[in-house]
Amino acid sequence: MRDALNNPFSPGSDTVPDVWAGRTEQLSDWRDVVRPRRLAGLPERGRTILGEPGLGKSTLVRRIAEEAERAGDWVTPQLRIPSGADPLKLVAGAILKLATEAGLASAREKRIGDAMARVQEVAAAGISLTLRATAGPEPYTALTELLVEVGNAAIAHGHVIALIHIDEIQNITDEKALSQLLIALGDALSHQVVVTVPGGAKVTRSLPIEVYLTGLPDFEDMTGARKGATFARRFKTTTLSGIDDEDLAEALQEFVLEGWEVPDGSGGTTRIRMEQDAASLIVDVCRGEPFLFQLAGEQAWYAGRGDTITVDEVRTGWRGAQREATAHVERILERLPSRETQFLQTMASLPVADRTLTNIARQMGLEKATDAGPTSQRLDTVRGIIGRGRLYTFRHRAVEAYLTSSWPNV
Ligand SMILES: Nc1ncnc2c1ncn2[C@@H]1O[C@H](COP(=O)(O)OP(=O)(O)OP(=O)(O)O)[C@@H](O)[C@H]1O
Ligand SMILES: [Mg+2]
Repeated sequence: MRDALNNPFSPGSDTVPDVWAGRTEQLSDWRDVVRPRRLAGLPERGRTILGEPGLGKSTLVRRIAEEAERAGDWVTPQLRIPSGADPLKLVAGAILKLATEAGLASAREKRIGDAMARVQEVAAAGISLTLRATAGPEPYTALTELLVEVGNAAIAHGHVIALIHIDEIQNITDEKALSQLLIALGDALSHQVVVTVPGGAKVTRSLPIEVYLTGLPDFEDMTGARKGATFARRFKTTTLSGIDDEDLAEALQEFVLEGWEVPDGSGGTTRIRMEQDAASLIVDVCRGEPFLFQLAGEQAWYAGRGDTITVDEVRTGWRGAQREATAHVERILERLPSRETQFLQTMASLPVADRTLTNIARQMGLEKATDAGPTSQRLDTVRGIIGRGRLYTFRHRAVEAYLTSSWPNV
C-alpha cells in the first residue's frame, strides 16, 4: 500500500532523491574527468554549477559528494552560505575538519601545527582578520596552506580526493571575502608539489583536491571584471537547464516495468507500478523542472492507495499541486530585474514565428534592437532561460508554459 512512509518522491528535501533523473553529463564529468585527473596529479579546474532556483544544483553536488564518500574520499558537508555570512569562517571550519580527517591534527611537523593554528584563527575571526593592522600574511593564505597539507596527506594516503562543496555562493556579498575565498581555493587547486616517482625521478603534480561551488546565476555578476579572468581560468562554470523529458521518463520506467519496491508494512516488500500514461503525464506536467517532477510524483503517490498509480491519480495529485507549481515559477520570475521580466513577457506575447530581437525590442518600446541586447544576452548566457537564434526560444520550459499557456492547469 502507498503511504507517506514509503513514498520515494521528495520535493524540496535536503536528501538525494530515490527517483533520480538525468544529469548524466555532470555526473560523468566528476567520475570520468575530474576525479581521475586529480587523482593522477593532472591539473583540472574547480567546478561552478549555477542555475535558476530548483534546478537541482545542490542535489547534484550532494550526490557527487555521496559517491565520493562511498569511494573513501574526504568530503566536507555541503557548506551552505547564509546571506551576509562570513564565508571565510565557514570554509576555515570545514578545512579544519578535513585536516582532522586527514590525520593532520596529530601530525608532529611544526609547519602543520602552525597552519592548523592559523586556520583556527580564521575560523574564529573570519574576514575581520584582514582589517586588523597586524603584520603577516592575509588570512586566506592560511586556508591555502592547510589545504595543501590536506592534499599532501591525500597523496600519502593514496587514491583519495579531498572534496569541498560550497553552496549558495551568491550569498557572499562582501567583495573582499569573496575574492579572498576564491583566491584561497584557486591557489590550492593550482598548487603544484614535487613528488618522487618509482625509479627515483622527481616530478611535479597537482593535489588530489577538488572544489564545487553551487548557487544562483547572479553569482556570475559578482565574479566579473577584476577577478573574472583568474576565476574563469581556475573554475569551469556550467549553467544547468531543465531535465530532458527522455531522462524523466527513464527515471519512471522502473515503476512502469517492474514496479517500485517498497516495504509492505509487515516485514516484506511489495511493488508499486505506474500506468505508462501516468508516467507520461508526470513528465508532461513538470516541464523539465526536477522540483516539480518530485512534486507531481509525490502527489500522485498520495492520490490513491492501490498497487498501480493511474493517470487519473496523477491528474488529481497535480491539481492539488498546481498552486505550488505556480508559486515555483513566480519565484523564478520575481527574482529577475524588471527589464528581464518585461523582456520575457513581451517575448511570450508574440507568436512563435515573430520572436525576433527586433520585434521584441519594438514591442517593448525600445528604439533599437540593440537596446534589448544586454537583457537578452543575460537571459541566455547567464540564466539559461531563453535561447537566441534568428528566432528567440524559451529554454526554461516551465517559464514558457507559465507565460504562454494555461499551465499548470491540465
Ligand atoms: N536529478 C534529479 N532527479 C530528480 N529529482 C531531482 C534531481 N535534482 C534535483 N531534484 C529534486 O529537485 C528539487 C530541487 O533540488 P535542489 O534543492 O537541489 O535545487 P537547487 O537548484 O539547489 O535550488 P535552489 O536554487 O533553490 O537552492 C529537490 O526536491 C530534489 O530532490
Ligand atoms: Mg540549492
